[in-house]
Amino acid sequence: MPVIDIHNHFFPSSWPDLAERYGTPNWPWIKHTEPGQADIMVGDRFFRHIYSACWDPEVRLREMDRDGIDVQVISATPVLFGYERPAEHALDCARLFNDAALELCSRGKGRLKALCQVPLQDTDAACKELSRCMRAGHLGVQIGNHVGDKNLDNPGVVTFLQHCADEGAAVLVHPWEMFGRERMPKYMMPWTVGMPAETQLSVVAMILSGAFDRLPSTLRICFAHGGGSFAFLLGRLENAWHRQPVARGESEHPPSYYLNRFYTDSAVFDQRSLQFLVGTMGPDRVILGSDYPFPLGEERVGSLIRQSNLSLEAKAQLLGRNAIRFLGIKDVQEAEDTKSGLVADTSSTPEPEKLTYSSYLKVPELLELQRPQSVPEHHDELLFILVHQTYELWFKELLHDLDAVVANLQKAGAAPQSRDEVYEAARLLRRCTEITRVLVEQFTILETMLPTHFLAFRSLLEPASGFQSEQFREIEFLCGLKDEKMLRYHRPTAEAYASLKRRLEEPSLRDVFFGALQAMGKLPPAAEGATERERFEARARAVHELYKDEHHHRDWIDVCERLTEFDELVVSWRLRHIQLVERIIGIRMGTGGSTGASYLKLTLDKKFFPELWEARTLLTE
Ligand code: HEM
Repeated sequence: MPVIDIHNHFFPSSWPDLAERYGTPNWPWIKHTEPGQADIMVGDRFFRHIYSACWDPEVRLREMDRDGIDVQVISATPVLFGYERPAEHALDCARLFNDAALELCSRGKGRLKALCQVPLQDTDAACKELSRCMRAGHLGVQIGNHVGDKNLDNPGVVTFLQHCADEGAAVLVHPWEMFGRERMPKYMMPWTVGMPAETQLSVVAMILSGAFDRLPSTLRICFAHGGGSFAFLLGRLENAWHRQPVARGESEHPPSYYLNRFYTDSAVFDQRSLQFLVGTMGPDRVILGSDYPFPLGEERVGSLIRQSNLSLEAKAQLLGRNAIRFLGIKDVQEAEDTKSGLVADTSSTPEPEKLTYSSYLKVPELLELQRPQSVPEHHDELLFILVHQTYELWFKELLHDLDAVVANLQKAGAAPQSRDEVYEAARLLRRCTEITRVLVEQFTILETMLPTHFLAFRSLLEPASGFQSEQFREIEFLCGLKDEKMLRYHRPTAEAYASLKRRLEEPSLRDVFFGALQAMGKLPPAAEGATERERFEARARAVHELYKDEHHHRDWIDVCERLTEFDELVVSWRLRHIQLVERIIGIRMGTGGSTGASYLKLTLDKKFFPELWEARTLLTE
């Protein structure tokens, strides 16, 4: 996979005197100060110091090799946009620099590609120049994040973005002409404070104006500098959207819904910020961007991503794969084969949102979910996390299937003549038993962890404990083993508490099963004032009756057998868990505050369907 930097800049070594050409002052010009060094001047004012990497492909390629970068997608600098000037001047200037960019690329051994610039103050001219550039070999366009006082939701800009989508052009949004300059005269604050706020404003304007709702999802747009302050303040925006109707603007969905409609680059210069950005946007939405070779650019391009704690998979996405999608490169394999010869697919509209194995299964997101606590990371902590996560995934499937069993038995109770639901319940219960069998087996994997290895990071886990497994407790409650006391472990998490409370109040699988037997006339309604013991015995007798009449009740007996097997396997799970606990921590107390193995042994007598077991005692030869 080639490593691609999508946000970096160039300047040609010379260009015509623009002030003279257009007869207006304060155009940028280049002042070479010594070999390989130059200053960009705006009129008489010093703007920025630059060096030969800006114009000399040899220097650039050498530094790309040093940093392990295969391809750079170069763009001009916002100071050349000229959006505030007459459109014909901005267009002419755009043409000069767009052609200069391709000229530089032509000397880049296939490793340099370009984004053009357009006179965005004139939608028609901007669209035409974009089309010309796409035909000439540009991969897309870099635009400023506003045109004077018009944000990106301005109808003219939206029309241009639609045109970009139609042309298959990637759009990189770069902040420029920062607001509030009068309050930020010093310390480069327009760059450190103004730019992030400008970019946030652009993203928010596009979301709340409904621009993303109107534009096609084929539009590939990326916001520079990690999207500015957008990701960090998304929570605030989301809160306002939900609580204040006026804050919704014209957007059809809450802001977080639109995260898959745009990319950000990775130019955030801090590991925690990168983690946060990737956590918010998703690892498929952040692309290597360096701001090279400017003074505020990443000194060793790609090092922030390479040195991060992101998974290998996520790093590969940020370093190359996402860029390939963003740029609409024809084919990943092709790009990989030629490494340098990236080919833009302008022949057809790219489909970045097309379903793939990875996007369907959310593989990148899944692989991002393991966050060891140990520093330096203990080798076995990953296994510890993965095994628990695997259990939780299977618990999810168990709840899904057990809920369906309940629904089928309810239907069977409502229509006792129909047999389909009884067969379906038995089929699903078979799946539950097979899953639980796997869950019993899985403990052996964790037993490859030495007790000393677990102890090396155990203290970091407190007070996290299996007691807090909401889904495990839900399974117990759903099956009929309801213990209100256990709710206390879930009080800190309102959602978990609420779903467990709901499970506590809902009829359990056990209730529904006996409800169906009652509806079939196999279980007489309990007499008023009957004790719990009497009710229990009546239910056991009803099961006993089913077993005695195998000829008529084969289907229901099958359900009983599956329920019994499930019950049996859950006890096996409890037993294997205890063995694991004893093997790894002996008779130590649990992180959840229980007495550990000795507490867990008390749970071995728990049964979901005790009447099914009692019925066996009632049977005679
Ligand atoms: C090193 C491995 C493990 C150890 C040392 C361990 C230890 C314990 C201990 C001591 C308890 C009692 C509660 C407490 O005081 O914290 C407990 C409960 C529990 N553990 Fe584990 N456990 C391990 C692995 C697992 C795994 C892989 C799962 C899979 C989901 C799991 C799920 C549970 C559940 C659901 C409970 C609550 C059981 C109940 O209340 O009946 N544990 N564990």
